[in-house]
Amino acid sequence: MSDVAAQLLAWYDTHGRKNLPWQHPRTAYRVWLSEVMLQQTQVSTVIGYFQRFLDRLPTLPSLAAADEDTVLALWAGLGYYRRARFLHAAAKLCVERHGGDLPTGFTELAALPGIGRSTAGAILAQAHGLRFPILDGNVKRVLTRLHGIKEFPGDTATEKKLWLLAESHTPNARLADYTQAIMDLGATVCVRTRPLCAACPLQADCVAHRDHLTTVIPASKPTKAIPTRATTMIVLRDAHGRILLEKRGAAGVWSGLWSLPEAIDLEHAAVTATALARVAESRALTPFTHVFSHYRLNVHPVLFDRATATPGIADNDRLRWCAPGDAAALGLPAPVRTLLSPLWEIPA
Ligand code: ADE
Ligand code: SF4
Repeated sequence: MSDVAAQLLAWYDTHGRKNLPWQHPRTAYRVWLSEVMLQQTQVSTVIGYFQRFLDRLPTLPSLAAADEDTVLALWAGLGYYRRARFLHAAAKLCVERHGGDLPTGFTELAALPGIGRSTAGAILAQAHGLRFPILDGNVKRVLTRLHGIKEFPGDTATEKKLWLLAESHTPNARLADYTQAIMDLGATVCVRTRPLCAACPLQADCVAHRDHLTTVIPASKPTKAIPTRATTMIVLRDAHGRILLEKRGAAGVWSGLWSLPEAIDLEHAAVTATALARVAESRALTPFTHVFSHYRLNVHPVLFDRATATPGIADNDRLRWCAPGDAAALGLPAPVRTLLSPLWEIPA
């Protein structure tokens, strides 16, 4: 047996959870129901739901025969209702295809709705003592830390590596206890923030512990790199404190909203500003960044103050000199509103 399995089993014998309701009796139906409930919900919450569900629908055929409203009502409060619909659909398929029992073959089991590779492994290991690895979120955290894997565990290549490691640690005996042990370790000792390494049976072999990397492993989902663009926003303000707003076109971000005229840089901003109004003075305002889903926009605002409207430019359907009262009724992008709110006053 691998050292990891031996250490985990010894730890389980003294510290593991042995009185969870789905462990007595550990039938496939009960293990399945618990695993599906535990996919997104923690043990303490699941226990009550599990018992109520089983009181009402004690066997797989009774679940298959239930109407959907009954199943969903028993799930109400657990969230992620797709899990309940999958459970119900899978139960019906088991009645059609497998004589009313969950299949004991991995392929047939993993073909059922809502049962992925890890859940199939957890059912086979816990209910039938078969040698299949599991790799849920808790196990991924334990394995990335133990082996010092710095990559994001959700990457396909990293996940493949983790499955191989999970497989290599899985013992040949006591599969149900081992499976519960590694999940329990992740849930109670190797927790996401401040893992209790001093109480961990794997501490002596753990790379993340040795190298002080528990705060960076497992890596969080990489934020996708997005390009940065820049714009210069032109704030033309007249002697009455009104600001010239421009309605954006139908295409692109903020389409149809009232925003500020823009230019590619300060020089072009001055040219555009003087085309729109006569201006007396200008000064750069504090730049800020706005992040859209697909790019980051660095905004350099420039204030052209004591501007005078050029006849014919203002107040058409695209350009409007606006006092704060007028702007309240217009749709302004939030960062533009934030930029303008301290400026919307009569200049000193
Ligand atoms: N998370 C998923 N399955 C679990 C189980 N059997 N015990 C504790 N946590 C779990
Ligand atoms: Fe997790 Fe710490 Fe144990 Fe390593 S030693 S597996 S980081 S609890």
